[in-house]
Amino acid sequence: MKTKIKIKNDAVISKIDERIYSSFIEHLGRAVYGGIYEPDHETADDMGFRKDVMDLIKELNIPMIRYPGGNFVSGYNWEDGTGEKSKRPRKLELAWNSIETNDVGIDEFQEWAKRVSSDVMMAVNLGTRGADDARNLVEYSNQKTATYYADMRRKNGFEEPFAIKTWCLGNEMDGDWQIGTKRAQEYGRLACETAKLMKMVDPSIELVACGSSGPQMPTFGQWEETVLREAYEHVDYISLHSYYGNPDNNSQEYLGSACIMDGFIKDVVGICDKIKEEKKSDKDIMLSFDEWNVWFHSNEQDKKQEPWQIAPPLLEDMYNLEDAIVVGDLMITLLKNSDRVKIACLAQLVNVIAPIMTVTGGGVWKQTIFYPFKYTSQNGRGQAIKVEIECGTFTEGKAENIPAVDAVAVLSDDENELAVFAVNRLIGEDAELDIDLEGFEGYKLAEHVAMEGEDLKAGNSIDKPDNVTPVTKEINDKVILKGGSWNFLRYKKA
Ligand code: AHR
Repeated sequence: MKTKIKIKNDAVISKIDERIYSSFIEHLGRAVYGGIYEPDHETADDMGFRKDVMDLIKELNIPMIRYPGGNFVSGYNWEDGTGEKSKRPRKLELAWNSIETNDVGIDEFQEWAKRVSSDVMMAVNLGTRGADDARNLVEYSNQKTATYYADMRRKNGFEEPFAIKTWCLGNEMDGDWQIGTKRAQEYGRLACETAKLMKMVDPSIELVACGSSGPQMPTFGQWEETVLREAYEHVDYISLHSYYGNPDNNSQEYLGSACIMDGFIKDVVGICDKIKEEKKSDKDIMLSFDEWNVWFHSNEQDKKQEPWQIAPPLLEDMYNLEDAIVVGDLMITLLKNSDRVKIACLAQLVNVIAPIMTVTGGGVWKQTIFYPFKYTSQNGRGQAIKVEIECGTFTEGKAENIPAVDAVAVLSDDENELAVFAVNRLIGEDAELDIDLEGFEGYKLAEHVAMEGEDLKAGNSIDKPDNVTPVTKEINDKVILKGGSWNFLRYKKA
């Protein structure tokens, strides 16, 4: 398949907000206990955090990590995870039918985040709690005053504030599975009043209002409009959540998933701008795609879990090559929309629908999806540039007229490198690229790495950790994207 690609140096989409490479750790399954935290592990540091896990997280270069949920946050009392560990309550955790020991809370997590060079994106409980507890948590985390909650932090051993900049006003409040589900109007008012109080305590923070739990929700659109009408001037972002999967085992249809994400983003941007117009506001609401990933492999096995265990193995999807291609493609879509998507969190990071897996008491290994995330996060910093593409399309199942090839480019801040992230979604048909770099004279292809292979269902495991890894391609005159592949091309200025 002949494919024309034109990259013009004036086709800038946006300066990329590095928080587009964020991730997420929830108190869920083995994400915290047996994942990032395991005091008896041979690699545990002075606080009980696994250093082998930290090393892999650092490789992903993650600027910010959302915490502590997810569904978990809607029943969480943040004070339970602070202060003297022996006094912390052990509680029934209703979101995931588990037992929460509270051995890890904000005190430990913010310190762990520093150790992996990330900031914390903190979610507040708007399920069973409200504005009062949220503003207290902002004081505990960010204030220097000699007042009750800031003093409580000092007493717990943290003289300096945690300086948490980005905050989520609850989680998926439209979902009937959520602890304390709300109607749109009810949530919009609560988000508005909570936002006001939180910003009174610390005016420098940024706030994310909950959008719909996904585009499939019956109230999608109407929810966003109502919430923004209530809270527009007090919030900075609206959240998007979406998970993709191949439950019908139709790989060709599945490889078109990123187009669904693209449509979802465009719809939410349209709603934000409609309300801006209505309000005659000068302010743009930006998008926080704070939960995205592939999630479907573990659905059946999770139904068999016994309730009330500590850190049961939940949402442990085992990813394969086609999942990695989809994840790489979803990242291309986020970058293509980086003028409005300023924050995005790969959900999640360790053991729970994750690029990094551990054996409790044992080793650590990388899932297939680790690699496209790593290459994009490491090389996709700077300005996103639109790529014009002439290629064929395909229709398969519910996926109609999907472009076979998609791509985005990123020019590094020093302009010495142009990274191109490209996907060929058409299984079995290679794309031969005719590349026109207009305005990038002197840039030469220096590296071509691909996630490709005959077996789209192949994955990694603790026993075969390197079964699926990126392939380094030979550089020659022709650039070929294999049928069903994700690719990273590095151009260097001579
Ligand atoms: O990431 C797993 C779960 O998915 C989160 O807890 C919830 O917000 C979403 O439904």
